[in-house]
Amino acid sequence: MRIIRTKNYDEMSRKAAAIIAAQVIHKPNCVLGLATGGTPVGTYKNLVEWYKSGDLDFSEVSTVNLDEYRGLPREHRESYWSFMHRNLFDHVNIPQDRINLPDGTNMDADAECKRYDAVIASMGGVDLQLLGIGHDGHIGFNEPSDAFDMGTHCVDLTEETIEANKRFFASRDEVPRQAYTMGTHTIMSARKVLMIVSGRDKAEIIKKAFFGPVTPHVPASILQMHPNFVLVADEDALSLV
Ligand code: F6R
Repeated sequence: MRIIRTKNYDEMSRKAAAIIAAQVIHKPNCVLGLATGGTPVGTYKNLVEWYKSGDLDFSEVSTVNLDEYRGLPREHRESYWSFMHRNLFDHVNIPQDRINLPDGTNMDADAECKRYDAVIASMGGVDLQLLGIGHDGHIGFNEPSDAFDMGTHCVDLTEETIEANKRFFASRDEVPRQAYTMGTHTIMSARKVLMIVSGRDKAEIIKKAFFGPVTPHVPASILQMHPNFVLVADEDALSLV
């Protein structure tokens, strides 16, 4: 595990974008695993800038997103499909047919999870997986539980996650209660994992996840075992370690 400490959110975003850019330059036809949430917005902004300045070309890149709300139409402003288009896909040249997210509108959970795992397998796995971390240690929507999850599955969101995500919806009632997520095993199979974390409110969980025991009760803790895991975090997020 490698930790890169940054002064603040902006520096974290630039460093993370630089690591992703290096991946794209080294392997133009790479598979990027992508995340949503508040943390990666600045990272995507940098990637868009470097694409616009001619420093990056995404024409051969494929993407797989970590997760999607179940039951939310793609066009809903808060679907992860919309988030990704708004923050990245609409502004760079990743071919539309190389963009992959779980299909939240497919209510047949078994079929959708199998389809998504088959998509990831058909691409030969993920070269670089970008991750954030939830306050309870979740990665993707892999919430604390008694065992690590394997492949893509349908999850009931915890009260804590519903509470954290309600800021994006008009009311708490509108937050979807379920999501499809890539499993922990799939995340661990990525050839490189890059986690970005910012803010004092994440300091506690960073300490638990990366300086405590590996346990499915803190899903991110398993990343301690990943052979190529980089944590890019700002001083506030690292303030307890
Ligand atoms: C998003 C995702 C989540 C977030 C996590 C942190 O695709 O899978 O695990 O990374 O909830 O979210 P933020 O960045 O909003 O604190």
